[in-house]
Amino acid sequence: MAAMKINRSKEIFDQAQKIMVGGVNSPVRAFKAVGGSPVIMRRGKGSQLFDVDGNSYTDYCLSWGALILGHNDPDVLRAAKTAVSFGTSFGTSTKPEVEIAEFIVKHVPSIEMVRFVNSGTEATMSAIRLARGFTKRNKIIKFDGCYHGHCDDLLSVSGSGVAFLPASSSQGVPNAHIQGTFSLAYNDTTALQNVIEHNHKDIACVILEPVAGNMGVIAPEKEFLKNLRALTKKYNIVLIFDEVMSGFRTNLGCVQTDFGIIPDMTCLGKIIGGGFPIGAYGGRRDIMRNLAPLGKVYQAGTFSGNPVIMRAGLTVLKNLTPSIYKKLNTQAEKFITDTNNILAQHHTKAHLSGYKSMISLRFRKQAVYNYTDAIAASSGRLYSRLFHHLLKKGIYLPPADLEAFFISTCHSTQHLSILQKNLVEILSFS
Ligand SMILES: Cc1ncc(COP(=O)(O)O)c(C=O)c1O
Repeated sequence: MAAMKINRSKEIFDQAQKIMVGGVNSPVRAFKAVGGSPVIMRRGKGSQLFDVDGNSYTDYCLSWGALILGHNDPDVLRAAKTAVSFGTSFGTSTKPEVEIAEFIVKHVPSIEMVRFVNSGTEATMSAIRLARGFTKRNKIIKFDGCYHGHCDDLLSVSGSGVAFLPASSSQGVPNAHIQGTFSLAYNDTTALQNVIEHNHKDIACVILEPVAGNMGVIAPEKEFLKNLRALTKKYNIVLIFDEVMSGFRTNLGCVQTDFGIIPDMTCLGKIIGGGFPIGAYGGRRDIMRNLAPLGKVYQAGTFSGNPVIMRAGLTVLKNLTPSIYKKLNTQAEKFITDTNNILAQHHTKAHLSGYKSMISLRFRKQAVYNYTDAIAASSGRLYSRLFHHLLKKGIYLPPADLEAFFISTCHSTQHLSILQKNLVEILSFS
């Protein structure tokens, strides 16, 4: 295979490493998980990314799931440009924020009131603060392998499904922050029931990705979600769905409507910002009213509800019609099924696990239900080979094994068949 020229990318990355930590502003971008030098992107259009050396790639990372309409959608661009022409930030209330709030409240069943913030991390961090303020309890339950951003209290992954108080996944997090965090195995109702029944007087909230996307993609067992909802209701524990990744990816009601399980609060991000920095959390009115300025739980932000982002985000949401979702979901499901059939015919050990247009690779035949399975099904070495093989063929996957990849409305069946052919080619010979 001809060597791909990435000289300019390398030069820029060398320069970056001298003055930015690891050369990046978010760790996974440094390509540590796959090796090699990161490709520096210059421009995006539709399904394509273009790097500083003039190479183009069909993008399946899509700004980590944010770009459901692909890069630089003309309507979103127009909306953002118009909004910028009025001014970039006022630090006051504006009409666009009310319009997008109305849209979200109308479509997401759990959200009666909403607050916009600037990232998914801010959304989850603020949601658990509000749950604590509302319940006057301190402990929280999360699930191994779910990622909720880099908030101190949620940066813990215990190695097993039992409830011991785990160590943090990051240095710099005081023990006090994670001593009240139980991290349990995803899809494990017994462990959940056990912890809740012994600790319910102290537990403020349970937070989870209702479809996990940060340990590869795992759709939950419906019974698990049902039991989770019943247990949290029984003990007045706030149930928070972190739909930062899954929100508005599969339909306008988010995945909570797919499963018919409605949480007390929901966190959003990514898609609702139209490619700009965004986060939001919302939920039951009686909970949300505890937020300042109505209540005593404080949370604020200089740029929260920024008018340019609100306009861009609302334009994305308004473009997401039921027929768009139907086409995207069907296309993704067919891609997963067909690819898995072909991989099985070739007797490979790998398969794709996915939920509609959220997809990931598993380097084993058996299905994956939790983080332990996800680790057992990962292969840094193989993924790294695959990643670089695809990169040379002009296909950009996320630069780490356990990340989800995505399809946008700009990806054609032809794009997907090229990806499929290349996946099969490399996985059949490994
Ligand atoms: C489910 C989930 N929650 C929260 C976050 C954090 O969002 P952000 O990176 O915008 O802080 C992410 C980021 O990938 C996520 O996938």
